Amino acid sequence: MKRFALATVSTLAVAAGSSVLAEPEAEVLHWWTSGGEAKSVAVLQEEFASNGGTWTDMPVAGGGGDAAMTALRARVLSGNAPTAVQLKGPAIQEWYEEGVLADISGVAEAEGWAEVLPASIAGHMKCEGTWCAAPVNVHRVDWIWANADVLAANGIEMPTTWDEFNAAAVKLMDAGVIPLAHGGQSWQDATVFEAVLLGIGGPEFYQKALVDLDPEALTSDTMVQVFDQMRTMRGFVDENFSGRDWNLATAMVMNGEAAFQIMGDWAKGEFLAAGKTPGEDFLCASTPGDGYLYNVDSFAMFSVDGDDKKAGQELLAKLIVAPNFQKVFNLNKGSIPARTDVALDDFDICANLSAEEMGSTSAAGSLLPSYAHGMALRGSQSGAITDVVTAHFNSDMSSADAVQQLADAVANSY
Ligand code: BGC
Repeated sequence: MKRFALATVSTLAVAAGSSVLAEPEAEVLHWWTSGGEAKSVAVLQEEFASNGGTWTDMPVAGGGGDAAMTALRARVLSGNAPTAVQLKGPAIQEWYEEGVLADISGVAEAEGWAEVLPASIAGHMKCEGTWCAAPVNVHRVDWIWANADVLAANGIEMPTTWDEFNAAAVKLMDAGVIPLAHGGQSWQDATVFEAVLLGIGGPEFYQKALVDLDPEALTSDTMVQVFDQMRTMRGFVDENFSGRDWNLATAMVMNGEAAFQIMGDWAKGEFLAAGKTPGEDFLCASTPGDGYLYNVDSFAMFSVDGDDKKAGQELLAKLIVAPNFQKVFNLNKGSIPARTDVALDDFDICANLSAEEMGSTSAAGSLLPSYAHGMALRGSQSGAITDVVTAHFNSDMSSADAVQQLADAVANSY
């Protein structure tokens, strides 16, 4: 086993020009700590180990990764960056600008990433023409999950408009069921907000408001309607929602305490880890309206000293994008592979729907980056928006005031 591992590593190390004797090691910072997430990251740990790597785990709990990003900053500031970090969207380029990322172009070119990744995903992985991150998957964010029995018992179909959603929620409340399982954490508020905004405003409005930060869109009547719907939805969550973790909200749908959750398809990873079957125990549909909000998880390697660590980065980058990992990891994680050449035959109906709609929205120009999951904006800009969304959701602020605060917050961010 050991000899096999060294042979593999030596080949890799030679290819990358580093020492032939290096034994790959990696300290990996990530925020995959829920049941489904832990099962998924274990796939990478096992592959790394079976290829001779030594993995030091640095999990930082906290959905959406805010706590992980705070931990990362502290480590980099103290001059002790982890070797590999779960990092995505423009944050990759922001860290690159600080001069702390390693160039993984050698692996990317040797493995032919440009031929197997869609251009839109590859674009997120590049920093001034060099490869600076390795993509793991494509998560869709604008999903609505439902407990199949609860809907059937109450004569409710999956909603296809926000009016239908509201009507179903009122009916459920009358029947004593919590309509919407939600965790009052700012990133979860933002997750619901962007799905509502896409549904009510449509893809072009989403692009203008949450990608281009167009002041006219931000202060429009449409934006007022978006906040109105958020206010309506505040009435559909239970009184204990504050601070609840997203996976506990998923569990409420699983056990029938609540009917719906609006959450990215990492929620499906929780259903699957609990042995639930899509289409039978739980239902998936895109949230009402057109478009597709994507969220690509990826790993960036930080500049580190030592041949072992460098060999660890090369091995990790290679394994992450390789077909086997892309398949097995994503079967657990709820997402779909970032590579276009992995067959989806073994994937469930929700994953197949995601892949199909990723293709159709890409062709229609409505495949859009998730702002709530750090794919669309710089951190300071998305943070400014989320602060307003959360302040509105957790108070009696009017929609008109929220719109004004939103425009001001965006204008003052950079
Ligand atoms: C990440 C997912 C993760 C989710 C909940 C998202 O931002 O992209 O991989 O499962 O947060 O923590």
